[in-house]
Amino acid sequence: MRIPPARICFSDQDRAEILQGIDEALKTGQLTLGKNGKQFEEEIARFIGTKHAVVVNSGTSSIQIPMHIYNVRGKEVIVPTNTFFATALGVMHAGGIPRFVDCDPTTFSVDMDSLRNAVSERTAGVVVVHIGGIVTPHMQEIVDLCKKRGIFLFEDAAHAHGSSFRGKNAGTFGEASSFSFYPTKIITSGEGGVICTDSDTIDQESRLYRDQGKATFTANIHNKLGYNWRMSEPHAIIGMTHFRHLPEFIAERNRLARVYDRALNGAAGLRPLQLAEGTVSNYYKYIAMLDEKIDRARLKKILRETYDIGLSGEVYELPVHLQPIFEGQYKKGDLPKAEHACAHHVCMPLYQKMSEADVEYVAASVKTALGMV
Ligand SMILES: Cc1ncc(COP(=O)(O)O)c(C=O)c1O
Repeated sequence: MRIPPARICFSDQDRAEILQGIDEALKTGQLTLGKNGKQFEEEIARFIGTKHAVVVNSGTSSIQIPMHIYNVRGKEVIVPTNTFFATALGVMHAGGIPRFVDCDPTTFSVDMDSLRNAVSERTAGVVVVHIGGIVTPHMQEIVDLCKKRGIFLFEDAAHAHGSSFRGKNAGTFGEASSFSFYPTKIITSGEGGVICTDSDTIDQESRLYRDQGKATFTANIHNKLGYNWRMSEPHAIIGMTHFRHLPEFIAERNRLARVYDRALNGAAGLRPLQLAEGTVSNYYKYIAMLDEKIDRARLKKILRETYDIGLSGEVYELPVHLQPIFEGQYKKGDLPKAEHACAHHVCMPLYQKMSEADVEYVAASVKTALGMV
């Protein structure tokens, strides 16, 4: 495909460094919970700006572990419906009940009225998701709301490595936050995730939970319902090498996003999402809204078949409350803004090492294809 939806880039030098690191781990036999995981944690905490970081084996476990620590069992946790299923899954596997709220179509994050209306005496906490790498400008209001109601605020920052609002990084607004290092993310360790927090308690308990709920590393005494959520050393080596490039990846993605902004200007029926003042996105996704009359499936088909362009997947095409697993609990029309936003947006291909000429080609092709649907 001339323009794939996404591309994962590891330079020759990175690959050599990773292989050397893995070779050393194999020689020493230190293959899990070793020095690389520890160093990766220190580098993440320093970059994100939290006191602690605890690496785990997936973004999903980096949600589930804090939910166990918050003891959400039997309680409601407010979750945006415009998110990946794993956000709800992390809550549910810890015994919590997700209470879905609507989406603000200008940020793809949580709708403030819907959030305020959902908070009740049953609410244990709120999960905010920075969809596509965009931090909502309403973060401070959400922080204040949660403080006032005495409930936790957790950030699912799976998309938002290095994104910020008014100089404050995604992952530092809540008491704890999670990131994913799945291969589609800007930074990958193959599989992996991390919990970031300033709380000494959440840090210490996360370490126990990720290692079978063991009271100490060496003794087989278990006092928590943990699991094997550990990150292996080879994964830590891959992730750490990639993570060191995050500032340059973000700069590159922002430069390409500005090319899209210019080149898509005037596209009939398509409006790129405008970021609020003070929002710095890592451009995990470049999101554009489509006019209702535009047939998205047909647009994507023309781009694929005529122009050899794969638009990247939507974030997300179906809101979580309409997933079959929640059948009978929610119905179409319950959270209309999210349903509309999910149905009427596209994401442009955007990846490291994409050329400006390719961005121009995509934008020109989209403009032409829009005239054909
Ligand atoms: C918003 C969101 N939360 C959580 C996750 C789960 O991360 P992982 O796939 O690493 O378990 C993802 C990953 O795709 C995600 O997009």
